Amino acid sequence: MPAGEIFTLTTAREVPKKAKENNELTVTRGKQKEYQLIKVKDTWCRVESGQEIACDWEEDPIIVSQAKISEKISESGVSWTVQAPIYFRYKVIETQSLLDPSNSTLLYGHVSDPQELEVYQKKTQRRFIVIDVTVDKLHGSKVRKYFEANNVHYKVMALPTTEETKSMDMVLKILEEVQKFGLDRRTEPIIAIGGGVCLDIVGLAASLYRRRTPYIRIPTTLLSYVDASVGAKNGVNFCNCKNKLGSYTPPAATFLDRSFIQTIPRRQISNGLGEILKMALMKHKGLFELLESHGKYLLDTKFQSRNGLASHGDAALTAMRLAIQTMLEELAPNLWEDDLDRLVDYGHVISPELEMKVLPALMHGEAVNIDMALMTYVSLERGLLTKDEKDRTIQCMKGLELPVWHKDCSFQLVTKALGERFKHSGGKLRLPLPTGLGTAEIFNDMCEESIKRAYEMWDKECGEC
Ligand SMILES: NC(=O)c1ccc[n+]([C@@H]2O[C@H](COP(=O)([O-])OP(=O)(O)OC[C@H]3O[C@@H](n4cnc5c(N)ncnc54)[C@H](O)[C@@H]3O)[C@@H](O)[C@H]2O)c1
Repeated sequence: MPAGEIFTLTTAREVPKKAKENNELTVTRGKQKEYQLIKVKDTWCRVESGQEIACDWEEDPIIVSQAKISEKISESGVSWTVQAPIYFRYKVIETQSLLDPSNSTLLYGHVSDPQELEVYQKKTQRRFIVIDVTVDKLHGSKVRKYFEANNVHYKVMALPTTEETKSMDMVLKILEEVQKFGLDRRTEPIIAIGGGVCLDIVGLAASLYRRRTPYIRIPTTLLSYVDASVGAKNGVNFCNCKNKLGSYTPPAATFLDRSFIQTIPRRQISNGLGEILKMALMKHKGLFELLESHGKYLLDTKFQSRNGLASHGDAALTAMRLAIQTMLEELAPNLWEDDLDRLVDYGHVISPELEMKVLPALMHGEAVNIDMALMTYVSLERGLLTKDEKDRTIQCMKGLELPVWHKDCSFQLVTKALGERFKHSGGKLRLPLPTGLGTAEIFNDMCEESIKRAYEMWDKECGEC
């Protein structure tokens, strides 16, 4: 029972009697009553909050829900208000040699309860795997061998998951195959292996299948490793708008094996570094300095630096862990994004509009970086950053081989994107802005003239680079 509860319990049998009394609408007109919910012998009953129930019978456990129902009677009738906190638990697990048949993480890493694990291990496992087609060419045979060696009944569906195919059609295509395969919706998670696009599509498919089927994310790009894997969001593009359809449904678990990253092209390492830099600029000066000093090394070694040069220490592991840790700090208290003031939105105000406009010219992290470069000038214009801090930020971006400007990022596009943002953030333009290197705040007093001045400075300085 959560701390602070006020129930002293009578015999379990008596509780439904009390609950029955409560069912008789004794509420005085205009007054609101609040009820807790308790489960006795398989039946949920309401008990008025604050009501004491004496109990000397302990055979049947009594479950107290955190949900509450309040009831109000007015001239037009009764209204009930339900408050039901929803609880999510998911794991983000670093591992090595994920596809080694002796590593049980892929099969059971998402299971926390030892009793549950025992039940799982007794029956033949079944898994439906969606894998990006390029990743399938590189790692598909190992994936198949893993499941065969572990006697798992499986199906692999390889799909071309790109920004252009990130659509509801792809979600439905997956769901048709899932339906044919048949899954136990509680114990047989769907597995997604690929970049952020693959993970987002499969996450949405899983959230729709039988209303919520558990799924596992295995990121194979740097961007998906540090960002798309970590939170609750999934989605697909719709009506030429980025991630317009989606849900907040976290995976059962994410399994991180950075060896996948070694086959991605250098440009995609930069792409992922864009999202790592975002977290550094918003909330971790140490991470920013690490990127400043080790950026080239991280690019050259593709984050495979376990035995790297002594002068670099384990820069790769440190950068990845700090990016994930800072990201989780911001996401976990706000999984459903009820709070609109989100530092993680830095770089995501102008970039969706730009990314979709020039598709497929810019990768996600590149578009995010162009947005961050422009916002760096907004901060400078407002006196939140010094010229030296602005210069270091832009220099660091260039060192990570990220674009800081794009010809299609016109002032018209910027104002359109800000207008969209205004519409979707409760009639206030809330902008996360750096207030130093590794510190930030949300501002809601932006004016167009100030943004225009910043835009002109950015366009003049960065457009020439
Ligand atoms: N859900 C979230 O919270 C969240 C967060 C950030 C980004 N995203 C989404 O992630 C997407 C971008 O993800 P991305 O940058 O990973 O791009 P991506 O998924 O498009 O992958 C890029 C390319 O890399 C290839 N690839 C993947 N793994 C590979 C490997 N190991 N070796 C060689 N090639 C490989 C793929 O075939 C693909 O063509 C965007 O759609 C964005 O909206 C989602």
